[in-house]
Amino acid sequence: MLTREENEMLTRVGAGTPGGELLRRYWHPVGVASELTVENPTQIVRILGETLVLFRDKKGRIGLLDDRCAHRGASLCYGRVEERGIACPYHGWLYDTKGNCLETPAEPAESKFHLTVKQRSYPIRQLVGLYWAYLGPQPAPLIANFDVWFRKDGRRKIFIQPQLDCNWFQAMENSVDPAHLQILHQETAGRGRAIQNTTRGLTDDVEKFDFYEVPYGIMKRRTYKNGMVDEHPVIFPSILRQGNVGQIRVPMDDTHTKVFFVRFFPSEDGAIVENDEPPLEHIQPYKNPPDALHPYTKFRMDAVQAQDHMAWETQGPIADRTRERLTSSDRGVIMLREVMMREMKKVQRGLDPIGVIRDPAQNLMIDTHLMESIAQSVEDRAPRAVNE
Ligand code: FES
Ligand SMILES: [Fe+2]
Repeated sequence: MLTREENEMLTRVGAGTPGGELLRRYWHPVGVASELTVENPTQIVRILGETLVLFRDKKGRIGLLDDRCAHRGASLCYGRVEERGIACPYHGWLYDTKGNCLETPAEPAESKFHLTVKQRSYPIRQLVGLYWAYLGPQPAPLIANFDVWFRKDGRRKIFIQPQLDCNWFQAMENSVDPAHLQILHQETAGRGRAIQNTTRGLTDDVEKFDFYEVPYGIMKRRTYKNGMVDEHPVIFPSILRQGNVGQIRVPMDDTHTKVFFVRFFPSEDGAIVENDEPPLEHIQPYKNPPDALHPYTKFRMDAVQAQDHMAWETQGPIADRTRERLTSSDRGVIMLREVMMREMKKVQRGLDPIGVIRDPAQNLMIDTHLMESIAQSVEDRAPRAVNE
């Protein structure tokens, strides 16, 4: 059980909050590269409580700017793109991808007013078919060399999950809560096996759960009575690795989360794939109506991700941790909260939290040993700077 203050600290994501400042030390995906096209060159991005516009100018440069025009606040998402940047739809103030104001058309020709205007802008990089943004203080760190992103001996596919209408940390706590799999997901985890007792589900298959810290986060390990061992790491702060999938949870604001899955398919013969252009699939909503909250919507319960979304959203837009009853099987959740608290305090002291890497020589591939073979050379998969 937490105090109200501790719960606030764990869950708030806005600028200036402890959690928001921690999250601003990492790169997060904000859009799919193949969806930002010449025909559709602007997109709204909600991230960490900010409303931004992601755009592609007619030279192909990508920008991420505050959506609220510095003049009188109209949305730049409705702006017109041109070679030099994006022009506000209202009075045409023109911004480049760095947020410099190049022109204020309604001012006299000799006006230098535009030189005094700077729109908030953030760096963007392209990696595994996604645009990644960094909203923290400069200099920006590197994107960690996680095997799902950087392995070359296979292809990737991107899945966009339906919007998760609750706080991001509920999904992260679930990632260190191995006991739920044998109960919430008993039908799918059992793969058709007859369940003797639906209350216990497959709980009695498991010998023990262990958790331990690794340099990039927390590993959870399930040991089954038949000797099988299952490990799923949390890549701190917002990614779950499950099999060959990196599940990325991007806090949009305190009560909404965008979830990207990147799945890696190794080549059968280990062949290197050049120019991997991941295809994209949008997953249909898990609830009906899709934009309502519990108890005014109903989740389907016949798929693992739908079951998880049900559990996370019905905990509330922000779970009230002052009323919970934690037990021994919640020790992974307790560990994650302790790590989060410790790392937020590090950021408050001006230090880098875990997993922030600045030296390319230290950016060794995070190989979680969960895939069969590993290609060592990662250079060709390095994130491409598209606006800096
Ligand atoms: S509100 Fe954007 S140019 Fe006036
Ligand atoms: Fe689950």
